[in-house]
Amino acid sequence: MTLPLIVVAGATGQLGQTLAQLWAKSPLPQYQLKALDRTELDISEAKTVIAVLSELKPAVIVNAAAYTQVDKAESEARVAHLVNAEAVGRIAAWSAKNSAKLIHISTDFVFDGTRQTPYRADHQTNPLGVYGESKLAGEHKIQTQASQRNAVIRTSWLYSEYGNNFVKTMLRLMGDRDQLSVVNDQIGSPTSTHGLAALLFTMISKDSYQGIYHWSDGASISWYEFAQEIQDQAIQEGLLSKAIPINPISTSEYPTPAQRPAYSVLDRSRAVAQFECPALDWKGQLNLVIKELARE
Ligand SMILES: NC(=O)c1ccc[n+]([C@@H]2O[C@H](COP(=O)([O-])OP(=O)(O)OC[C@H]3O[C@@H](n4cnc5c(N)ncnc54)[C@H](OP(=O)(O)O)[C@@H]3O)[C@@H](O)[C@H]2O)c1
Repeated sequence: MTLPLIVVAGATGQLGQTLAQLWAKSPLPQYQLKALDRTELDISEAKTVIAVLSELKPAVIVNAAAYTQVDKAESEARVAHLVNAEAVGRIAAWSAKNSAKLIHISTDFVFDGTRQTPYRADHQTNPLGVYGESKLAGEHKIQTQASQRNAVIRTSWLYSEYGNNFVKTMLRLMGDRDQLSVVNDQIGSPTSTHGLAALLFTMISKDSYQGIYHWSDGASISWYEFAQEIQDQAIQEGLLSKAIPINPISTSEYPTPAQRPAYSVLDRSRAVAQFECPALDWKGQLNLVIKELARE
């Protein structure tokens, strides 16, 4: 008997690699999984999407592919919308037509950051930049499908031992520089791809999800506080030999092409309750990745 197939789009990304790694360690026995990179499934190519999905006939699609360059998106709006919105619409349409389930990943950048308490899924969206706009447009493309068989997971400050992310950038700079300045007035929550990947497999195994969920590692900290913890743990795990001074600065002292929300903590309680997820501790999650980087 052929097991139903989970297709992961975006296999070479941080989340895509983590999903493949977790699957290799602990697969769901009732499914098989194929993680496809851009050469195998370019989600922005309409014909490819239809051809690949029609051939593989997945029961579940996890879309971990995205245009994720927040600042570059300001000058590349067309490609950001193509990948994060139009392509998502086509995958959602194929899923609805073929009774497949779709789990799509979105972002805290759909919010403008004017709240001071965690964002629930039903709170008002109002992206500040092109990346957030394109991701929100992707969510809308999914919601306009009549299918009840899909879910959007918004997450924030994603990091892992793979690819490019804040943790790896900080470790590199902390090794190279005498001191560092890090923004202290943007508050959010880091999210390890490992916890997110575990959530996604739990959702698939429980086979009951619908609508928008929020997921993070439950912190409420600034990038500066995150950097301090990264340095402390990296020294403890032998990744760095010495501490350098880290200076807290304001967003206005570190201008970027894209504006970021000043506050983007996500309320993950719906996901925790529905999927009975263990309440992850952000420092513990960070430690797993730091230890992995120290092993490499
Ligand atoms: N990173 C964050 O801080 C963060 C925060 C909140 C939400 N998210 C969301 O979380 C999800 C996963 O993010 P991530 O950090 O794992 O992203 P990532 O590491 O930047 O990976 C993105 C992946 O998408 C692929 N991709 C881009 N365009 C594609 C296309 N046209 N067809 C097929 N694949 C394409 C990339 O392929 P190539 O390797 O070939 O370029 C890459 O494998 C995304 O939806 C992102 O928006 C991320």
